[in-house]
Order: sequence, then C-alpha cells, then structure tokens
Amino acid sequence: MLVSAKEMLNKAKAGKYAVGQFNINNLEWTKAILLTAQEQNSPVILGVSEGAGKYMCGFKTVADMVKAMIDELGITVPVALHLDHGSYEGAKKCIEAGFSSIMFDGSHYPIEENIAKTRELVGVCEELGLSIEAEVGAIGGEEDGVIGGGEVADPGECKMIADLGVTMLAAGIGNIHGKYPANWAGLRFDTLDAIQQLTGTMPLVLHGGTGIPADMIKKAISLGVSKINVNTECQLAFAAATREYIEAGKDLEGKGFDPRKLLAPGVEAIKATVKEKMELFGSVNKA
Ligand code: 13P
Repeated sequence: MLVSAKEMLNKAKAGKYAVGQFNINNLEWTKAILLTAQEQNSPVILGVSEGAGKYMCGFKTVADMVKAMIDELGITVPVALHLDHGSYEGAKKCIEAGFSSIMFDGSHYPIEENIAKTRELVGVCEELGLSIEAEVGAIGGEEDGVIGGGEVADPGECKMIADLGVTMLAAGIGNIHGKYPANWAGLRFDTLDAIQQLTGTMPLVLHGGTGIPADMIKKAISLGVSKINVNTECQLAFAAATREYIEAGKDLEGKGFDPRKLLAPGVEAIKATVKEKMELFGSVNKA
C-alpha cells in the first residue's frame, strides 16, 4: 500500500521506534526491500536520490515500477516512496510523478531561503496529502557528488523549520553519509535532545544510518528519532555477496551467468541487511 509517511512516523514517534528508509537503485533493490518489509510486517520508506532517479530513467519510471510491484507482490504493509535530499525542482518533479513523500533539502541555503522554499513546498504537499521532510544543518560525507561538512544543526533553526508544518525533520548531529572514519566523534546527543525539547512530537530523521553502532541508534530513538536512513550498508552487502559468487566461479558453472542467478546472492544480502535494521529499529510487526 503506497501511503504518505505521516501516519507511520507519528506512530513510530509515539511508540518509541523508528521506520527505516532504504534507498533503492534498481528493480532488485526495490523487490528485496518490499519483500522484507512484508515478511517482517513492518512499515517501510523507499528512498530515491536525484541521482538514483536519473539512473532509473526518471521519477515516473520509479513511481510506476514501485506501484506495480506493490500490486504484483501483494504488499499490504505501509510503503512510502520518498525523494531523498531533493532540490526544489526535483521535489516538484517527484510530486508530479506520483511519489507519496518528498524531502526538500534546503540545508545549504541561508536559513531565510530554506524557510521560504520549505514553506511553499509544505503548502503543495499538504494539499495533495503527501509527507515532506526538511533539513537543517547539512549531513556530512558525500552523496551524489555533493560533499557536506557534517554540521551540527542549530536547535532554534530546527524549531523555525518544524513550525512551518513539515512532517519530519532531519537535523545534522555529527552524522555523515557513507562509512564513518575511525576517528569519528559520534552523534551529538546534547544537540538531539535540545532539538526534541523544542520540536516536541515532530518525528526526527537520522541520516547516514550505515555504520552507526547499535547503542547509539537506540539512544537516538529514545531522543525522538523516528526515521533512519540506510543506503551504503545495502550497497556494501550487495557488492560483497556478488563478489563472493563470482570469485567462487559460480558464474562459470552451468547457467550461473544468468542475471537472475548472478544477482540472487546480492538480493539475499540486501534482504538480510534490511531485516537486521528493522529488528534494531523496532519496526517489526508495526505495520
Ligand atoms: P548511508 O549511506 O550512510 O547509510 O546514508 C543514507 C542516507 O542518509 C540517505 O539519505
């Protein structure tokens, strides 16, 4: 069932668990995540970056594929199709293409411009019943060639953006996309706590879920994080399983070169990663 992320995240915030956003790259990724969500009876958010949207031949192709897959696979758990780190133009395109949720990432704009653009998109989403995520304080690391410095958000600015009526709010708290460096200082729980105190029941979003230790994830959830984004970890699991298959020479045995066989271990690895995250985030049986 394709739905906005609003109800699932409000329920998660109230119930002190988090819903995973897993980024998709192709048909195999999408199928693996949808099937795992159904098996675990968990709500799920499919994240699509602008780069991944382009790779998959445009947002309309993605939206149509996801809707058809939900139908064909008989997926009954709540699924949100969400634009990840969208530009203003990208957000408009996804709304048109049939996404049920968007993120407008105006964190690189001065706060006044972030507020003005977020406000306009909140209006559009409200009218159409879509959920909208905004961001304050750029998340560090590299995503689609955009490199952020790992800022720590200003809680007062978070409150200003939350008050615009966004559905969920991403705030930089020392988290970064991709693998964490060995000397990473960890999440800034003091900032997260201050943000939650000011934003109350607003579901908070933790980006850069790959490689954050389980105890930090649990503490973040206890301080109001209700959506956690995971991308790189599924990519690493897929690549490792595919490498193992090929290095074992299995593509050279019989019809092992058939893409349906060659990509199968990678799909299973994504499924195992998503299951593990759903268990850690506490979203199993919360559909
Ligand atoms: P990771 O790639 O570090 O898991 O981050 C994902 C993310 O935050 C997508 O917005």
